[in-house]
Amino acid sequence: MSEGTAKKEEKPRKFQAIRGTRDLLPPETALWNRVEQTAHEVFATFGFGEIRLPIFEATDLFARAVGGDTDIVSKEMYSFEDRPDARLERYKHILDFETTSFEMNAIRAQVHDLQIVLSDLRAASRQGDVPDTTANQRNLENLGILIGELVGHSAGEKRLSEADLARKLAAIQRIGRDLELAERVSLRPEATASVCRAYIENGMQQLPQPVKLYTIGPMFRRERPQKGRYRQFYQIDAEVLGGSDAPAIDAEVIEMVMTFFDRLELQGVQLDINSIGCKDCRPEYVKLLKAELSKPEIMERLGPDSQRRIETNPLRVLDSKVKEEQPIIEKLPRIANHLCEECATHYAAVKHELEMRGVFFRENWRLVRGLDYYMRTTFEFTAQGLGSQNAVCGGGRYDGLVELLGGPPTKGIGFAIGEDRLILSLQESGKGPAQQGRDVYIAWMGERAHATAIRAAKDLRKAGFSVELPPVEQKFGKALGQADKLGAKYALILGDNEVAEGLWTLKTLADGSQAKYTEPDLLVHLKRQL
Ligand code: HAM
Repeated sequence: MSEGTAKKEEKPRKFQAIRGTRDLLPPETALWNRVEQTAHEVFATFGFGEIRLPIFEATDLFARAVGGDTDIVSKEMYSFEDRPDARLERYKHILDFETTSFEMNAIRAQVHDLQIVLSDLRAASRQGDVPDTTANQRNLENLGILIGELVGHSAGEKRLSEADLARKLAAIQRIGRDLELAERVSLRPEATASVCRAYIENGMQQLPQPVKLYTIGPMFRRERPQKGRYRQFYQIDAEVLGGSDAPAIDAEVIEMVMTFFDRLELQGVQLDINSIGCKDCRPEYVKLLKAELSKPEIMERLGPDSQRRIETNPLRVLDSKVKEEQPIIEKLPRIANHLCEECATHYAAVKHELEMRGVFFRENWRLVRGLDYYMRTTFEFTAQGLGSQNAVCGGGRYDGLVELLGGPPTKGIGFAIGEDRLILSLQESGKGPAQQGRDVYIAWMGERAHATAIRAAKDLRKAGFSVELPPVEQKFGKALGQADKLGAKYALILGDNEVAEGLWTLKTLADGSQAKYTEPDLLVHLKRQL
């Protein structure tokens, strides 16, 4: 049996898109394009520039930024080890070599190999082929020291006892085993961490501040799929980095989302805002909340998820949607009463700035958000027609995140719109595009008409019309039926008579009327009509 021929009894597998991923098809994609085009236009009027980012990054980046204990990082990321360089893989084996003879010649040969390995590993580390993790940095440094001592021994400068030799070689073996030759990478679950990484890596702190960036693209989270929740979903994300933390910046970012939603005529938009304090006042509040939640009469009335969160992240208890917990949560202490003076002033000013911009909002003291980097302002938009997954945009301030990722102290605020949900809501309220029909269907018959049809198609397309040119000739009746099915507005009929006379027949499919035009007149007529 030749390669590639399936065995008779084996049915070919029916491939399906991976659970939680989906195909976006026309005409829906026209709506996606319209939404993205509107984002480009509206965001540009607020001075934002587009940034395009990698789809995968070091796992560590998200662990640091989003937080190792968050659901996103601890449960939902698609992570994998990048493929290590085969040459480096061999070095790992050389380091992890069980030494059986301490005879000088054998040791000298081994030390020679180890020196080559060390210098290659150092070079690879400089070039970024070996991941620059803290563990690798420490291991390479220790390896240098150990090999240095073995060199001293084999050169007769500083003899080591057999026991010492055995210990040092065992330590080298351990390093060989521990060395991480391949980076652990993750498909991005969100974009803020990447934008901050890019801000630092590209020295954007040298640009006039603040730097306003936005990006549109797929994100990946291994959540339980349902309506409005996917494992590959799309975000329209915008970030303002650097400059001051003036409340007007928070308000303008929120105003931009509102302007965008208004432009799209999104229905039932509701904006919730909150302030979750800063590193000075929040810990005090969290302590208080934790103490309250830990009271036996309260704790025993909470479900297992909330009980677990008392230890891991008490603020997230406020997020709970569990019905039985609602009356308990309503009575918990509220952060607004525990903000430090700066945070309280900032929050009041954000609200004032929103009012000045005519942006309606609802204060929601339970809006804490599920990512660790937030401080002060947090906000969420909901829209109609989305069921339980009705958050269509989430965001907030994250001063300090850039610093946490190794950059200079930098202010930051931003948001991400869930594009899938935005589209769903637009469709539910009847804002989806109608099936896009062709403008003109060319019904041609005969060899001479074929050449004319090709020319007509070229000219009409050049003028911007959408044209369907059948590849083979069809009887006119069949051609008109086809034109109808495709939702064409006009049929251009080209037969022997039309070509001979130089007068082309244009049939309006809606009412069946038809008229004859010369080639230039036809273009003028269509331009007027369409
Ligand atoms: P987030 O709240 O995790 O925030 O996500 C923002 C939006 O993305 C959500 O409101 C929702 O519309 C959409 N979304 C999230 N997960 C899914 C999913 N599995 N399926 C469909 N849509 C989803 C962030 O990602 C932050 N990075 C936002 C931000 C930017 N904060 C500051 N700057």
